[in-house]
Amino acid sequence: MAVADTADGGAASASAARVRELQALLNHHSALYYADKPEIPDGDFDRLLKELEALEEQHPELVHPDSPTQRVGAPPDTAFAPVRHQPPMMSLHNALDLDELRAWHERVHRALAAGTARAGGEQALPTMEDAGVGDYAVELKFDGLAISVRYEDGVLVRAATRGDGRTGEDVTHSVRTIADIPIRLQGDAPAVLEVRGEVILRLSTFEQLNARQAERGEKAYVNPRNAAAGSLRQKDARVTAERGLSFWCYQLGYAEGGPTFSSQMQTLQWLKSLGLPVNQYSVGLADLVAVEAHVTDFERRRHDLDYEFDGLVVKVDDLGLQGRLGVDAKAPRWAIAYKFPPEERTTKLLDIEVSIGPSGQATPFARLEPVFVGGVTVATATLHNEDQVAAKDVRPGDTVIVRRAGEVIPEVVGPVLSERDPGSEPWVFPRDCPVCGRPLQRAEGMSATQCVNYWCPRQIRGRVEHFVGRAAMDIEFLGERNIDRFVSEGLLDDVVGLYKLDFEEIEQMEGFGQTSVNNLRNSIEASKQQPLSRLLFALSIPEIGQVNAQVLAAAFGDIDSILAADSDALAEVEGFGPIIAASVRAWFDDPHNRTLIEGLRKTGLRMEVDEPGSAEAGEALPQTLAGMSVVVSGALEGFSRDEAKQAILARGGSAPGSVSGRTAALVVGADPGASKVRKAESSGVPVIDEAAFQQLLDTGQLP
Ligand code: IVH
Repeated sequence: MAVADTADGGAASASAARVRELQALLNHHSALYYADKPEIPDGDFDRLLKELEALEEQHPELVHPDSPTQRVGAPPDTAFAPVRHQPPMMSLHNALDLDELRAWHERVHRALAAGTARAGGEQALPTMEDAGVGDYAVELKFDGLAISVRYEDGVLVRAATRGDGRTGEDVTHSVRTIADIPIRLQGDAPAVLEVRGEVILRLSTFEQLNARQAERGEKAYVNPRNAAAGSLRQKDARVTAERGLSFWCYQLGYAEGGPTFSSQMQTLQWLKSLGLPVNQYSVGLADLVAVEAHVTDFERRRHDLDYEFDGLVVKVDDLGLQGRLGVDAKAPRWAIAYKFPPEERTTKLLDIEVSIGPSGQATPFARLEPVFVGGVTVATATLHNEDQVAAKDVRPGDTVIVRRAGEVIPEVVGPVLSERDPGSEPWVFPRDCPVCGRPLQRAEGMSATQCVNYWCPRQIRGRVEHFVGRAAMDIEFLGERNIDRFVSEGLLDDVVGLYKLDFEEIEQMEGFGQTSVNNLRNSIEASKQQPLSRLLFALSIPEIGQVNAQVLAAAFGDIDSILAADSDALAEVEGFGPIIAASVRAWFDDPHNRTLIEGLRKTGLRMEVDEPGSAEAGEALPQTLAGMSVVVSGALEGFSRDEAKQAILARGGSAPGSVSGRTAALVVGADPGASKVRKAESSGVPVIDEAAFQQLLDTGQLP
């Protein structure tokens, strides 16, 4: 792989490579997590994220707007109309043991005491001691899906998932079917009420659901949380209704015209009086001592209830104090999630197998004798890569410790050496791909092992799945199952094959009829007109996500100009630099990819940007920001993060992820990054709001 030519040499470029690796890895796992197909435990994800945060802090120039550090949660899926959350749905900071809980309590006290001292003798601000009844409201931390439900004049009008916290997906149709959630509030409902809470599936209902899945020959859901997520995101609300979801309401999001309250506990009581389901284990507790006793008690009882909770949420009860403590970029300072420690069990490691991912990565995983741990039965667990297996030295036949910490996918901690068969040998990574039988390769300095056979059926499927995706060529009526069938039945040998499908033969296949074949044919035909940026994204070029694909398309205009561009020209592209340029160049130089491009060209694909004047052809807009660097932080009303970046790039500016002395302006929306604002203020960079941003885009001038 090419490495950046930096003045300080190896160390900096090694960090750059690692940052990019981590960004890609975390984005990959984050997408899998939100698609309910996680492959690594949350703990590993958090460790990787921490490593990335530390590296990005040292090298702010490497912070890319697409970096997983720049967003909270997953982007909403456009299949369900986007819904803005006002105020945003925040996350919670975690305390992993009682010490961390105490430390949080201390911080809260210090912050409030400092505020009081600042107010001086004039009018002392109240502290926790003045607050009255109880210091803390303590609730269960339900392990489900956060949603926001809006009532107008007492009638349910909209429900949305949390999404990335700012924008979620409209799931009103599904939520209406949840029996716990009233369609009409009782009593004196306010003009507008938005409540937040967790959609869950009770354990008993979950078991019934999996029994039904088994009867129908469908796959079982791994746990109630996944099943709840799958049930909520159904297009057909009848399916959701069948699933028997439940709901717990734990937070007031927004209200207009209702009574005002001074505490969380009072608010919960009011929500309950309106007919909303508030959990009976939500309690007001006097002080930290009572909180500690309570969390310890519930830790013992964590499997006694008919629903899962992975900890408790401790909230400062007094709303006035909450207001003074405020929030940071991710979560409120007035609340903390006390998470239960992971649970561990031992079981037999039956075998270590290797699975092949969509771009050929070979991942070893443990096949286990099924064991019940942390509320689910576990039969497989990822082992990540060759080094991980070696570090843990787990061997087929070993008794191993399996841990599951509130996360979806469990991990193998290590072997119980005292129970090891003395004749056992260390596991050796297989030489050949289990799918295509060709040799696997591990590049020097990399942790991943790869199947490098371009024609491995798993990779063909991976390329086609990505190519047809909604953000790519948007070919509908072609799900994973059918791609799999077409590839294994020899109807489809790669992406180009999509444009040469034998529809007569498909019409004879089980599950297809004339209408579905026509739909498929029309969708494939329509994709030929997709603009260049979508095609570039669809080609699975390393480093080319949606944003880079748009920038690349706007910079060159058509595929031939990209084919002709040398690495220097590519490195000039906004935000690219030598590493991305080398990766793009290498991809276009690969003979397989050349053949692919020429094959696609012959089928009549457009391979150009949209008409000049469209957003894709960047040069059409007045270059008001030429040479200016504008940083955006926090949620804007009229732009998504990507749209704001596009708006800046399209006007000739650059939109880096961090503030420096050369930044022309920092645009702040709701909940901006505190460190960015501090940096801007200390460097004399103007901090502007969305209206001023719009003016800046239009005129290139700050108001
Ligand atoms: S309060 C601004 N209370 O935990 C306050 N959240 O890790 C934010 N959760 O996204 C949330 N039980 O999905 C709150 N009793 C509870 C909760 C709870 C579960 C979830 C919620 C949130 C996540 C944060």
